[in-house]
Amino acid sequence: MNELPMVDYEQYFKNLQTINSCLKLRDELSRSGEIQEIKNQLKTADPDTKRKLGGQLNQLKKALQAASDDRIQQIQKQQEIEEEVTFDPTFYSEEYKTARGKLHPITQVMNEIVTIFQKMGYDIADGPLIETQWHCFTALNMPDYHPARSMQDTFFLKDTDEQGENYVLRTHTSGVQIRYAENHKPPFKMISPGQVYRNENIDSTHDIMFHQIECLVVDKNISISHLKTVLEDLFSQIFDDDRLTIRFRPSYFPYTIPSLEYDISCPFCNQQGCRICKHTKWIEIGGSGLVHPDVIKNMGLDPKEWQGFAFGFGVDRIAQFKLNISGLGQFFNGSQKFLRGE
Ligand code: DAH
Repeated sequence: MNELPMVDYEQYFKNLQTINSCLKLRDELSRSGEIQEIKNQLKTADPDTKRKLGGQLNQLKKALQAASDDRIQQIQKQQEIEEEVTFDPTFYSEEYKTARGKLHPITQVMNEIVTIFQKMGYDIADGPLIETQWHCFTALNMPDYHPARSMQDTFFLKDTDEQGENYVLRTHTSGVQIRYAENHKPPFKMISPGQVYRNENIDSTHDIMFHQIECLVVDKNISISHLKTVLEDLFSQIFDDDRLTIRFRPSYFPYTIPSLEYDISCPFCNQQGCRICKHTKWIEIGGSGLVHPDVIKNMGLDPKEWQGFAFGFGVDRIAQFKLNISGLGQFFNGSQKFLRGE
């Protein structure tokens, strides 16, 4: 086995001028060069060599991450200095004399969807962005040893709750189900819209913050057909397409049984196949299912008496479709042109 190839990642990054180019290069280098070479060797190595190679691989990945982080920090510092120099609070432009502020595009789409739910009689519930592990995971049937927790890696705060568990930035709005049920008597139907956070590598389809809407209905004799009808009704209104249909695919979420992912028939091509549905005629939207009896119990209810359905979906992607935007990055890079809708 060869000795660890020393890679000077810093030299790759030192001339880059934008954060995006750093992230792109970091992703490229993690799939090529020395790192890829070690990954290839790992496939056929004996256990002893594998251990050594694994160590080397970790070291290289760390060095790559550090080089990218360092350069990003330098770029950010530089940007701050430039902004300070060019920012003139007394500057007044004729162009802005009549310009008025507007809601962010995601807030506009979010409000539109919330209004549809309100017309359908749903209660709108708010929950904290900084959440206990009980509400975010454990009460939803995801104890701390549960592998499903790794599907939603998050950010942990140093502060701890009464159980001695670190607070987390909520990874989904599903936890609001539990909070809502703590102080409402069934039957009820509610949604919880808002920001959620994941510890993700940022690219054109992932960000560390995005928006979700969670929906929960608890009543007697709830079945999948209720879920399907509500989804069909909701998404027909969101996309203003009364021919829209729902397709379920079997899935797994610890808090629902059965669990189903749902797609909508592509509203942009009337199921002829187009760029948006990538010629599949369907668009994946989110997860859903019948609420797991253990979760009903964690709501303080008797699962023999009460059942429920729940579903969740990301709002940013829907806004992207509705506003015909190519990448999620545009939403939060602060471009005035984009925010003015130009
Ligand atoms: N919480 C899931 C997520 O963030 C979405 C989801 C799946 C919500 C299934 C649900 C559900 O209510 O039943 O990916």
